Amino acid sequence: MRDLTKANVTDAVLDKIADNTEPRVKEIIEALVRHAHDFIREVNLTPDELLHGARFIQAVGQISDDKREEGVLLGDVLGLSALCEILGDTVRAGATESSLLGPFYRDGAPDRQMEFDISLGDAAGDPAFVSGRVIDTQGDPLEGVVLDVWQVAPNAFYEAQVGQPDEYADYAYRGKFTTGADGRYWFRTRKPVNYPVPTDGPVGTILRGTGRHSWRPAHLHYLIYKNGYQTIQTELFNSDSEYLDSDAVFGVKESLIIPYTLNEDAEAATTHGFDGPFYEGVYDFVMKDDASAADAAAQYSQRASMSAD
Ligand SMILES: [Fe+2]
Repeated sequence: MRDLTKANVTDAVLDKIADNTEPRVKEIIEALVRHAHDFIREVNLTPDELLHGARFIQAVGQISDDKREEGVLLGDVLGLSALCEILGDTVRAGATESSLLGPFYRDGAPDRQMEFDISLGDAAGDPAFVSGRVIDTQGDPLEGVVLDVWQVAPNAFYEAQVGQPDEYADYAYRGKFTTGADGRYWFRTRKPVNYPVPTDGPVGTILRGTGRHSWRPAHLHYLIYKNGYQTIQTELFNSDSEYLDSDAVFGVKESLIIPYTLNEDAEAATTHGFDGPFYEGVYDFVMKDDASAADAAAQYSQRASMSAD
């Protein structure tokens, strides 16, 4: 028997992986082992530091539940989610660019009619009207597209977020809209605000320990799907946010930044049920066809509720 050395311990582990392991699992685990070993050699990691890391992972799991996804947030603040999205951009070329899902998505948002006020009549914040079209890569409107929308409330918390002050009803600032033949969508809300990602858990320890702020630029989240088309997972960012260049989770792309223009037309305000001037945000989403997405709704639902199994 040969003693393990810092050079051959990696091969000793890789040799244990059965040849008949499912190919993609084998590829990922082998690369994980190689890179993790290289990382330990590079920083000369001590046993105490490794133990500290193991306890950090335990803490990420322990603080998570069906309303708190600390693992997603960890991937977000380390830029892992952004990198995975960037890698997929070539497949999606021609469609609206993607951005992060983030830790606050909730499955099961209610279906809403166009014009619905997703703030559920909130008086806080600034009134906003968001609209646009969903079109294909030829510019033709797409019917039957579902837009699942969610955003932070004016108090800088998502309605179901752990630790939020319980001001909002279940599924406030969330809703699903389905386009008609003209491909148009429109709804009322309050203008999205900047908010900090939660820092009361292990991810906060990383941010504080490395001198980083926790703020995200104001944004609206979208999951957009239709059978036969690539699902779009994206965010639209307010152009006036001071955090566009320093998003704590690296989600901003130039093409996803939109202005909210103040509309002071009294008639328009009345038409949309606002008391006075309101902000307008407009954006057209472009979907790319994809024969393999024959059942996009089911794929989307599966992804949204993905478990670790
Ligand atoms: Fe968000």
